[in-house]
Amino acid sequence: MISLPNMPKRIGIAADHGGFALKQALVRMLRNAGCKVIDFGPRRLKANDDYPDFVVPLARAIVREKVDRGIAICGSGVGACIAANKVAGVRACLIHETYSGRQGVEDDNMNMICLGGRVVGPALAWELVKTFLAARFSATKRHCRRLAKVEELEWQSQDVKSENYARKLC
Ligand code: RB5
Repeated sequence: MISLPNMPKRIGIAADHGGFALKQALVRMLRNAGCKVIDFGPRRLKANDDYPDFVVPLARAIVREKVDRGIAICGSGVGACIAANKVAGVRACLIHETYSGRQGVEDDNMNMICLGGRVVGPALAWELVKTFLAARFSATKRHCRRLAKVEELEWQSQDVKSENYARKLC
């Protein structure tokens, strides 16, 4: 077993059929490295499953602080990223190189990495995941200010959603 320094305690992971094989590989690698992994599925490869069914529960678990960081994988990583970012409080990004994998956390407090299971192989994915998990938000003044502006947008869009919902009811 290798051990990874500075790892978050609880790591959530989810996929769809396009990301299933990579999810299985990463779960194995993370557990071998001594990480606690919560697997949001799918448990079995099912060719017609839908990424929101697995990625959104993972996204909600991040916001509810049931997990510290998330890894979401679909074929390209795009759908997983779009779905996850609909959950207020989630900052998910499609990452295929290590610079953004680290800087996305340090500067933008990214809390979910999205990967394309049909784009990256397990060796590169493992490097990306290790980089993402080892990074910490810098909490410097300018980054906190930018994050506050992003959080403000989340509140605004929730207001729009509840207004639209109210209109539909009338
Ligand atoms: C599923 O075939 C594929 O569209 C999905 O895994 C993902 O790539 C979507 O962004």
